[in-house]
Amino acid sequence: MSDGAIRIAPSILSADVLRLEAQVQAVLAGGADWLHVDVMDGRFVPNLTFGAGMIAALRRLTDKPIDVHLMVVEPERYLEPFARAGASVFTFHPEATTHVQRQLAAVKAAGMLAGLALNPGSPLVLAEEVVGDLDLLLIMTVNPGFGGQAYLPGSDEKIRRARALLTARGSRAFLEVDGGITPQTIGAARAAGADTFVAGNAIFSGDDPAREVRELRRRGSPTA
Ligand code: DX5
Ligand code: ZN
Repeated sequence: MSDGAIRIAPSILSADVLRLEAQVQAVLAGGADWLHVDVMDGRFVPNLTFGAGMIAALRRLTDKPIDVHLMVVEPERYLEPFARAGASVFTFHPEATTHVQRQLAAVKAAGMLAGLALNPGSPLVLAEEVVGDLDLLLIMTVNPGFGGQAYLPGSDEKIRRARALLTARGSRAFLEVDGGITPQTIGAARAAGADTFVAGNAIFSGDDPAREVRELRRRGSPTA
C-alpha cells in the first residue's frame, strides 16, 4: 500500500520491441519500481498489444512488480492466465465488465493487487462504492489506446478529488496516473496527490531510459 514514496512505472508500450530486454534492463538499472504492461484488445481501445506471454517473459527478467493495465472488454477472462504468468497488479476499467466488485475480489483471491482505472471522461463516482476493495486507483490522464499523447488539462484537479476520496474513506490504495507523464507534468500530478507514475514516451523516446527514470523521480519528488 501507499507509503509516502513515489513509484515510477515505465510502460513497455513505448519500448523498442526488438531491443526489449536491453530496454527493460536499462529502466531497472535506472531504478524503475514497477513495469507497466498495457494490454489492449482492439475493442475497448482501438489498438492491439500484449498478452500473458509478455507478462511471463518479463517475469523471467525481474522480480519487480509487474503492473498490468487491461484496456479490454471482459477483463475477467484474463485473470487466471495473467496471475499464472506472474502479474502483480491487475487493473481494469469499470465500463469493461458488469460486476466490478466481484472482479476486484477475484483479482485479490488470485493473489494480485486489484486496480480500477478511470478514463478522462469517467467520473470518480464509478469508484466510490468499491473504494474499500481497491489496492490501486488509476486516473487516466489521456484517453487510453496509444503512447505519446499530451497530458489532458483538468487532470490535476481530478487527481486532487481522487486523493480526497481515498483520504476520506481511509484508503491506502496507490493513486496512479497514466498518460502524458513527463518531467514537465509529473510535479503537478505529484502535488495533486498521485504517488505512482506510468511513463512510456518520456522514458523510451530518448537514448538513455535509465537517465529518464531518474529524472522523472527527481522532478516528481516533493523537494525538487
Ligand atoms: C495509454 C497507456 C499508457 C501509455 C502511456 O493508453 O495506458 O500506459 O503507455 O504512454 P505515455 O507515457 O507515452 O503517454
Ligand atoms: Zn497504461
